[in-house]
Amino acid sequence: MPESKIDNRKSKIPSPSAATGLGFITSALATPVTAAEAALRPLSFADFTGQPKTIERLQVMVGAAKKRGEALNHILFSGPPGLGKTTLAFILGHELGKNVRVTSGPVIEKAGDLAGLLTSLEEGDILFIDEIHRIPKTVEEYLYSAMEDFRLDIMIDQGPNARSVRLSIPRFTLVGATTRSGLLTAPLRSRFTLQTRLDYYDHATLEEIVRRSCGLLQVVIDAGGAQEIATRARGTPRVANNLINFVRDYAQERAGGKITRAVAAAALELLEIDAAGLDEMDKRMIRVMAENYRGGPVGMSTIAVAVGEEAETLEEVHEPFLIQEGYLQRTREGRILTAKGYTAVGLKPVQGNQQTLL
Ligand SMILES: Nc1ncnc2c1ncn2[C@@H]1O[C@H](COP(=O)(O)OP(=O)(O)OP(=O)(O)O)[C@@H](O)[C@H]1O
Ligand SMILES: [Mg+2]
Repeated sequence: MPESKIDNRKSKIPSPSAATGLGFITSALATPVTAAEAALRPLSFADFTGQPKTIERLQVMVGAAKKRGEALNHILFSGPPGLGKTTLAFILGHELGKNVRVTSGPVIEKAGDLAGLLTSLEEGDILFIDEIHRIPKTVEEYLYSAMEDFRLDIMIDQGPNARSVRLSIPRFTLVGATTRSGLLTAPLRSRFTLQTRLDYYDHATLEEIVRRSCGLLQVVIDAGGAQEIATRARGTPRVANNLINFVRDYAQERAGGKITRAVAAAALELLEIDAAGLDEMDKRMIRVMAENYRGGPVGMSTIAVAVGEEAETLEEVHEPFLIQEGYLQRTREGRILTAKGYTAVGLKPVQGNQQTLL
């Protein structure tokens, strides 16, 4: 198994905006984890703020597995990018005292790759598969028996020499993460004992995360500054941490180093992130829907072409937040702009389009 197949984060959604410099949030959420970000990653349950239901479920499972001296059951995390799925996989390893091997769905191209990964594990280790919905179908079928019976039947050689070999593998824990749980097949999904969804964080919880990160970075911030960053971080710790990095630079260059409410607000205006956390790409989407399609319904691929971004990125990064906050609605016919959506870009809702006035 070549090392390059592991820890390969380049399979993340390609983001043209990251290259052009447009859309701080798009690039923060669609590019690989940076070293600065890794330094802020909580390492234990005690360090992790928010997601109380998920944490309690995990604590129960970890406690029981440790007492029985068994491997943890398989776990699936779903939810939008940057909410802590990878972080939780590492926390599980830390709490159990086991190794975590990291890979991602599209990187496992054939059964042999999977066999290499699984046979390198030790009893009780965690195999973390990011973007598990993108695992090739041919590999997925091998995963079933690996998860259920801890064995793999693989074919070696071709033609007349072809034969099937049974490999037994250590009892391991598969932790899967996906931003698109709807794309997971039923047989794969049903093999996870726990399926748990991470939600966007509320402002108070994000404020705590902002204060914790600033403490680790030795950044001076007051209550107003923490509040201002938290409300503009669109419910996402990764965005909060990225905003802190920029606001810290701004404070140092323009305001004597300390982050106050006014300093944070001015810095984030400069990034074109508004008071509600919407960035330029969110607003472009909203404007396109309002101005070109009378508020919809309009398909995501149409919006994507109009704003010059990949539909996949819009669906994973922007749309969940816009829907959760009530700017957009998703219907069978396509996306519809709500009255709140129009107001967000300073437009009046179109009269006569009943659906937009809901
Ligand atoms: N609950 C939390 N408390 C403090 N920091 C957090 C929390 N959750 C996430 N973070 C921070 O946010 C960053 C992003 O989290 P993480 O990489 O785990 O997200 P993810 O859900 O795996 O995202 P993706 O889907 O893009 O892979 C982490 O580096 C960590 O510093
Ligand atoms: Mg991740």
